[in-house]
Amino acid sequence: MPTVIAQPVVSGLTRAAIFLVVTLKPAPRGDEAVKALCGDLASLTRAVGFRDLVGGLSCVMGFGSATWDRLFGAPRPATLHPFREIEGKHRAVSTQGDLLFHIRAASPDLCFELATQIMMRLGDAVAATDEVHGFKYYDQRDLLGFVDGTENPVNQEAVDAAIIGEEDPTFAGGSYVIVQKYLHDLKAWEAVPVEQQERIIGRKKLSDIEFADAAKASYAHNVLTSIEENGEEVKIVRDNMPFGEVGKGEFGTYFIGYARSPARIEKMLTNMFVGLPPGNYDRLLDFSRAVSGSLFFVPSATFLDGVAA
Ligand code: HEM
Repeated sequence: MPTVIAQPVVSGLTRAAIFLVVTLKPAPRGDEAVKALCGDLASLTRAVGFRDLVGGLSCVMGFGSATWDRLFGAPRPATLHPFREIEGKHRAVSTQGDLLFHIRAASPDLCFELATQIMMRLGDAVAATDEVHGFKYYDQRDLLGFVDGTENPVNQEAVDAAIIGEEDPTFAGGSYVIVQKYLHDLKAWEAVPVEQQERIIGRKKLSDIEFADAAKASYAHNVLTSIEENGEEVKIVRDNMPFGEVGKGEFGTYFIGYARSPARIEKMLTNMFVGLPPGNYDRLLDFSRAVSGSLFFVPSATFLDGVAA
């Protein structure tokens, strides 16, 4: 079997990122431009990235369910579907987009240049529906002040969490990704005593040390997002980024989670929004509102390279 190379899903955390969700104009307009970009994305990324040898530029391209059918038809990834809204104590809205570009680098100039080049290639075939320029905030903190990303799997564990294997052989080397834009009510959050904030997250705020299991609240974020399948803990690969506009009073976290099956991210979301048991929901959501939500399939880089315009 030929070697399949994954897109840089587990390329590691960076200090800058652009999350670009775009919508395609009605078919067949733009299909050719998108397909041409698939084949060119690796060389485009190389050209922009090579100018900064320590910049670590990477780009992951994802496809929404309807976009997959429109561009590629059958066969289709086994569990690809549009993002399903979750209604509980709070609501995880669905604003399903057509394409996702997750661009990461050590500095924002590289991300900006690649995003520009991508959008120039796509021209008026697409409209950007969500564009967020994320930044690292001090020691990997979110704007709520907590270190975000500590328990992410790394190395082989990250590959095992995020990259499809034998369960869907046609799409081995692929991944699924869910993105959500959250806006924080910082004023309300900052009125909460730090001890209660720590109970909500399940870790100490300053030191980032995790609470012992017995000391965690049942509604702690890290309790509700620790899940098992067939008796074994399963993980996802996250690369959340803060973003904001101070003049508008906008302070947010762009959530991005990769997994080899969307079900495990959806289970975490259900635990957070509905609660486990129902009602025992994630208090983080009392201060963080999800304003977007999309699910994309990330085919292997080998698949992308082989797309003919
Ligand atoms: C407002 C949005 C969010 C914020 C600010 C946030 C923040 C955090 C923080 C501070 C931690 C603890 C440090 C760490 O291990 O990374 C954490 C852990 C985690 N979060 Fe989130 N998170 C958000 C949304 C989500 C969503 C939507 C999911 C999944 C659907 C998720 C899944 C996880 C997981 C799996 C962990 C690790 C749990 C563990 O194994 O201890 N988070 N998050």
